[in-house]
Amino acid sequence: MVCIVICVHKCTGDATKVEHLWRLEGAKERLKLMKADLMEEGSFDEAIMGCQGVFHTASPVAGTALDPMGEIVEPAVQGTLNVLRSCKKNPSLRRVVLTSSSSTVRIREDIDPRVPLDESSWSSTELCQRFQVWYGLSKILAERAAWDFCKENNIDLITVLPAFLIGPSLPPNLCSTASDVLGLFKGETKKFEFHGRMGYVHIDDVAGCHILVYEQEAAYGRYLCSSTVIDNNELASFLASRYPSYPIPKGFKELERPYYEFNTAKIQSLGFKFKPLEDMFDDCVASLLQQGRL
Ligand SMILES: NC(=O)c1ccc[n+]([C@@H]2O[C@H](COP(=O)([O-])OP(=O)(O)OC[C@H]3O[C@@H](n4cnc5c(N)ncnc54)[C@H](OP(=O)(O)O)[C@@H]3O)[C@@H](O)[C@H]2O)c1
Repeated sequence: MVCIVICVHKCTGDATKVEHLWRLEGAKERLKLMKADLMEEGSFDEAIMGCQGVFHTASPVAGTALDPMGEIVEPAVQGTLNVLRSCKKNPSLRRVVLTSSSSTVRIREDIDPRVPLDESSWSSTELCQRFQVWYGLSKILAERAAWDFCKENNIDLITVLPAFLIGPSLPPNLCSTASDVLGLFKGETKKFEFHGRMGYVHIDDVAGCHILVYEQEAAYGRYLCSSTVIDNNELASFLASRYPSYPIPKGFKELERPYYEFNTAKIQSLGFKFKPLEDMFDDCVASLLQQGRL
């Protein structure tokens, strides 16, 4: 199988941004990089034509923005629709797997703490707007737009809803969430205070889950992808005892947020097993050390 990575945004002009991809096993034989822009209709046509499977992952993951609707929400929604419009033109297409987020499930005020959230739950767009959770809003609107488009156009869509990703980082620049984790190991509290209670998942499991739901004919709908949900204060004490040489914060200010758990029975029913918190952070720390960031 030829693996095509769509290189979006600014990366084709900057060779260092994709160097790590060429070091992956089998890259010389199977990797093809093409330029495409989420905001340009038709930009993905050439890359997608002839493919049986499309994994759409690119989406703005920024904590802050001067123009959140223009910089985060619009590219997420329009980008998803542009990719799907290209999929529609491809007669060989078997299935599309879209990377959504657990933030499309857990941002709501009416959570019953006794009932774990599953794929039937949708976050509140009103709450996201009220608390300016633009990333969450972008993921909800993009996933909803994808479902509507695929139903109208008879496209086989599956969405994967990962929790907070932890693990080794391949690219030269850390993504937004990986920098938050690095900050935590340096004693910063601000970003993780805001995260409050959160689900965590190993990056390998997120990749594995995408492949599993693509390959398993019987897979359908949305799939939550989360190993463990814990409060940030529990996380801080877990990290402080496992990695005592780092100045992990002693604790965070308690935020008034509803208690929730995730029910991941749906992905587990396909035979999927999640890696524990220990593996996520051991691999993350090893990668940060190897890159000289810690
Ligand atoms: N990190 C997490 O904890 C987490 C949790 C749940 C779901 N996810 C989802 O996983 C996916 C990957 O996220 P990540 O955390 O790995 O972040 P990331 O490294 O920042 O990846 C996002 C990708 O989207 C591209 N992108 C962003 N804005 C774009 C735009 N306007 N036009 C074209 N491309 C654009 C970026 O390209 P450039 O580098 O060129 O800007 C980058 O390659 C996203 O869909 C995210 O919502 C992440």
